[in-house]
Amino acid sequence: MPLRKKPFRFSIWQRRSLKGLIHLFALGYVAWLFFAGINDQLGPDPVNTLINETGTWAIHFLLLTLTLSPLAKWLPSPEPMQFRRMIGVYTFVYAFAHLLTYIVFELQLDMALVASEIVSRPYIIVGMAALLLLFALTATSFKRIQRNMGRKWQKLHNSIYLILPLALLHFSWSQKTFWQEPVWYWMIGLILMSPRMKQWYVTYQKKSQKKSRDENAAT
Ligand code: HEM
Repeated sequence: MPLRKKPFRFSIWQRRSLKGLIHLFALGYVAWLFFAGINDQLGPDPVNTLINETGTWAIHFLLLTLTLSPLAKWLPSPEPMQFRRMIGVYTFVYAFAHLLTYIVFELQLDMALVASEIVSRPYIIVGMAALLLLFALTATSFKRIQRNMGRKWQKLHNSIYLILPLALLHFSWSQKTFWQEPVWYWMIGLILMSPRMKQWYVTYQKKSQKKSRDENAAT
């Protein structure tokens, strides 16, 4: 049920300020993390802190991206959708920083070690699948590419609904538990996905009803 009758709108100035603040936080935090890590200010295990912080914030941005469409319907307002590309791109930026930290600082660019880690830790393969999909969405997030791709664009961008369980599975697996911290993220993910799952179910039911009506008519 929408919160108000009249759609909520930001002024240009308000929208630009909010975007500026998000850029400042997202770029500032990742820059600070690397600066502090290099200057030995991230505690006893800076590499682990870097991996954990970049991974956790990639999940935060991912969940935030998925919040925007229900929020737009609930307010109602077209405004949240103006932030979707930006926050989606920061999901990729943090996930990529996470991978870089792991390969450059943890594995010291030793490619034989990278290969053996991939083979011995399946959660890395799950993380890689999520990252590759995130890359595909980021690379095709430009307006011109969206126009050129037509309906294929929406199909590709629906893979955000696959990225979420992959990223959460990677998270739980890396922690060796579904409970404790990961379970909260699964719960938030489930809440965000539930209106979409309901919608898919309704569409599926309508399609199968139409199919059986068509089959009955043909016999
Ligand atoms: C090539 C892709 C990836 C690699 C190689 C990778 C690697 C890792 C490693 C080594 C850990 C640490 C496990 C430990 O503590 O022993 C980790 C944890 C984690 N990763 Fe990834 N990851 C990848 C992709 C992703 C993506 C795409 C996301 C999210 C969108 C993500 C989110 C996380 C989170 C949340 C954690 C747990 C952080 C914590 O302990 O608080 N990872 N990953």
